[in-house]
Amino acid sequence: MQDRITLGMNRTGLRTSPMEAEAMLSGLPMQEDAPMPEIGLEDIRAQYLEESEPVGSMPPPTTLKGVVGTVAETLSGNRLHVLLDKIGERAAYERSGTRLYDAMLQRLATETALPEGMTRELVEEIRDEEARHFALCVEAIEKLGGDPTLQTPCADLAGVQGMGLMQAINDPRATLSQALQTLLAAEVIDVASWELLIELATQLGRDELVTQFNDALTRENEHVARVTGWLRLSLQADLSLSGDMDSDPDTRRAT
Ligand SMILES: [Fe+2]
Repeated sequence: MQDRITLGMNRTGLRTSPMEAEAMLSGLPMQEDAPMPEIGLEDIRAQYLEESEPVGSMPPPTTLKGVVGTVAETLSGNRLHVLLDKIGERAAYERSGTRLYDAMLQRLATETALPEGMTRELVEEIRDEEARHFALCVEAIEKLGGDPTLQTPCADLAGVQGMGLMQAINDPRATLSQALQTLLAAEVIDVASWELLIELATQLGRDELVTQFNDALTRENEHVARVTGWLRLSLQADLSLSGDMDSDPDTRRAT
């Protein structure tokens, strides 16, 4: 685990070694005399886009209540399965969110200096709210006659998206600011996604769900505010500590 980003010998930029960079770039196929591949990457992607099956499908509801609901919704032009798919996605995301905060809590056990106002209790509170939102989604799916254990197509993709965030927050090399940035990415998606889910539920006349989803949105807005505030202070600490290092060359790390 790192306290903060330090000055070092990062050699990933081309400008570290202009001559070798020029030699490397001279091998790119954009040069006139370089042979072009017969099939380009764009052609291969286009072929996949044309031929691929969907990620998954939505099964019919498992309860009579849901079947009746689906028939009624379909007849009225509204499709309940679209809402069920998106609630499934939200459930997957909130479950990932819970795990992201579990990872942050583990990190806090060894963190010596936290931004002002960031406490273990407040992080735990957000973690528990993510878990409650997952439970709320499960309950909503059941109310609509769906199967909460189903991996819906949107939930499947949300799982893939969440993998990147999970890898980032569990990276032992990440600084506290970087870990907070990962939480912020998740929280911003939470807010925008609850807003869209509320719009869908409103359109389908699911007023009882709209009320509950609005409560979740209120909490998510609070999460964004908290995490942004902590990240702001953490970055300010990075700035002032970096300033100390800049002013004293002896403390600068060489690697
Ligand atoms: Fe959240």
